[in-house]
Amino acid sequence: MKQLLAPLVLAVSALALHSGHPAAAGSLPRDADGDWPGYGRTPDENHFSPLAEVDTRSVARLGLAWSMDLPPGNPMSAPIAVGGTLYTSTGYSVVRAIDAATGRLKWTFDPGAAVAAGEKLRMNWGSRGLAWWRGRIYVGTADGRLIALDAATGRVAWSVLTVGKDDGRTISGAPRIYDGKVLIGHGGADTSPIRGYVTAYDALTGRQLWRFHTVPGNPAEGFEDEAMSMAAATWGGEWWKHGGGGTAWNSFAYDAELKTIYIGTGNGSPWNHRVRSAGTGDNLFLCSVIALDAETGKYKWHYQFNPGESWDYNAAMDIHLATMTIAGKPRKVLVEAPKNGFVYVIDRETGQFISADPIARVTWTTGIDPTTGRPIERPEARYPDGTQFELWPSPNGAHTWLPSAVDPTAGIAYIPVMNAGYTFSDRGIDLRSWRHPSHVEWSPAVDVASVGGTGSYLLAWDPARRVAIWKAPTPGLWNGGLLVTGGGLVFQGQSSGKFVAYAAADGKPLWSFDAGVPVLAPPITFEANGKQYVTVLSGTGTTAGLAAAALAMPVDYRTQPRRILTFTLGGKARLRRPAPLSPLVADPGYAPDPAAMERGAPLYGKRCYSCHGLPGQSGGTAPDFARSSIPLSAEAFEEVVRNGALVAQGMPRFGELSDAELGALRQFIRAISHDAQRQD
Ligand code: HEC
Repeated sequence: MKQLLAPLVLAVSALALHSGHPAAAGSLPRDADGDWPGYGRTPDENHFSPLAEVDTRSVARLGLAWSMDLPPGNPMSAPIAVGGTLYTSTGYSVVRAIDAATGRLKWTFDPGAAVAAGEKLRMNWGSRGLAWWRGRIYVGTADGRLIALDAATGRVAWSVLTVGKDDGRTISGAPRIYDGKVLIGHGGADTSPIRGYVTAYDALTGRQLWRFHTVPGNPAEGFEDEAMSMAAATWGGEWWKHGGGGTAWNSFAYDAELKTIYIGTGNGSPWNHRVRSAGTGDNLFLCSVIALDAETGKYKWHYQFNPGESWDYNAAMDIHLATMTIAGKPRKVLVEAPKNGFVYVIDRETGQFISADPIARVTWTTGIDPTTGRPIERPEARYPDGTQFELWPSPNGAHTWLPSAVDPTAGIAYIPVMNAGYTFSDRGIDLRSWRHPSHVEWSPAVDVASVGGTGSYLLAWDPARRVAIWKAPTPGLWNGGLLVTGGGLVFQGQSSGKFVAYAAADGKPLWSFDAGVPVLAPPITFEANGKQYVTVLSGTGTTAGLAAAALAMPVDYRTQPRRILTFTLGGKARLRRPAPLSPLVADPGYAPDPAAMERGAPLYGKRCYSCHGLPGQSGGTAPDFARSSIPLSAEAFEEVVRNGALVAQGMPRFGELSDAELGALRQFIRAISHDAQRQD
């Protein structure tokens, strides 16, 4: 009975917290307060817990209760905790159930997603999280399955394929549960010509209930619904041939009272508006928040952050639901900081734009029109006629998927901000070719120092009063996802290896723990056996290879500890020190071959860089080639790269490479590894 009531209690608890009545929140049963059953804890997705045993005073006594070492695979994922059991989904959606108080492993479920993914493995995301409902655990996989597991045993209850087998759609995001339904989107538009959709399934049986496409398809095939014919009027050229994008790969929220689902959509596919849509139209519903009827999946309203998007300005960042007093009146709002450098407040009943304020350096616009909510773009931001534009924020965003958080009782938003600029241009790129998926060249802006510098910070922002409360600088360019608690604390990991608790009121760091390896994953807190625990996963993965230079410490795929760290008051457990980086491997037989190296460079840039980074400084997502002996042997290299010897470990197979291409790639890798050796 208690199990059956839990989702209801959670929905009510979300509402009570929105309403801002502390009495209502305080009267909730302890077990509902003490669990963390979904990605953002409750359907309002605030990454907030009312638990307060660990507070601004007691946090000084917070210590490690237990840790668990994980095998290689992406550890940047948010756990959930229900009834004293912790569940994690790491690597390619390997789910573990763990006794939350002791750290004892109860069961492991491996969906074999790396092998099943085929070419989709090349996108490398792994899993960002999972969901719980009535004794079931829900997880998505890279090959596009949505799987329901028995929470007690880890056995499969049902499994559905939510995408086409070879269509480029892949799942990395956490499923969301509401009203007996499980909702899932997908990603993949940065590497394949696809259009996005979200699908709702019956959580009990896995039966499909509805599907909503986020961008229109080929008009000749007819549109799925009125929303798609409306959206089609905002596209130009033969957009459907490019897919369009707009994938909902991360953020969803649910308002039970309004019976509405909110969806954050991604960037255009390809990025370049001139290629995607003949340079015309707003391209609905890219970079938007879309409100849907939760029962039917029918369109209600949308707000588009970046009409005619052309910079990878995703809006699939966390959507937070809260009630805030604006101009003297309580309003049901949603708060989101998408990639484009602003934090937005939108009326979630009507979709009406309320406000937008910059949280980092912004060069693409002079501001957002206060009445229409439409950005006033700088024309040069669209890099016209082969010009180069210095774009701030970078395509990584002023805020990416590492979650922001909202304390709904205080009405304050906390945002992990990255401040960086990149140069942008489509000069010299064959705009008709699909071979260059983003149809732009982009690289870090060369003179960042002269334009105010690159860096990261944790920002506390009052969305109603539109003012910063405090700002705490963080090391490196990446900083971790957030948790805010009823104990007045904001928890955040750093790429320097520190896991920090700040006073939510003034940003004072009150406590920290050195994990010895970057901590970027979103932390959670929960109750087990009457005690409060805080859990976070350490180590890097996903596209950290791209971001090696953005981390505040070097990370090695082979030696970095990937761990579940669980803390409680009076915890006394100790961590073994992380092993040093693996040694650089000498290559005495290396002979320069500039022509082969030049042929290998673009192959490397397109196929390998996103995971392996650059030799000598890979970011921990995949092995560092300067520390690997495999490239020294043509046979071993071919076994791994063309024949797929390490697919099960997450190294994709590149069967299409010719002998000459393989040779050129190997030469390129050896050449840069050689350079890295000499710099060391
Ligand atoms: C989606 C991410 C990803 C991409 C893209 C990728 N790799 Fe890998 N690669 C990995 C992972 C993960 C491993 C480590 C597997 C293991 O644990 O043994 C690996 C291992 C390797 C190894 C073995 C290194 C060693 O010391 O064990 C080689 C060689 C290699 N990759 C080459 C390449 C080349 C060449 C490309 C581009 C054509 C490429 N990889 C693209 C993820 C990737």
